[in-house]
Amino acid sequence: MRKIVPVQPDGASQTVDAPAGQSLMEAATQNNARGIVGDCGGACSCATCRAYIDAPWAEQLKPADDIETGMREGALDVEPSSRLDCQIAVSDALDRIVVRAPVR
Ligand code: FES
Repeated sequence: MRKIVPVQPDGASQTVDAPAGQSLMEAATQNNARGIVGDCGGACSCATCRAYIDAPWAEQLKPADDIETGMREGALDVEPSSRLDCQIAVSDALDRIVVRAPVR
């Protein structure tokens, strides 16, 4: 079991368990991590799962595909580190990844 660390806009954080292969959004929402949501259930059609993933974790991620990029560009409060958490699968390389939730 890997861990992910959702961080709220106010800096509060928690650590939740996440099995390999599960998306960051699923791991966060199933563990009631505040600030991470996923209205479309991971279909990459809502962008409500948007969050920020900073260095050094950002360099570990696969680049966003065209669908994620299009959805992300239409989201609010986009930053260079913005990603859609439903499109990122938990792996050993991402153990203890920090996921910053946006202000909602
Ligand atoms: S949960 Fe809808 S785009 Fe990620």
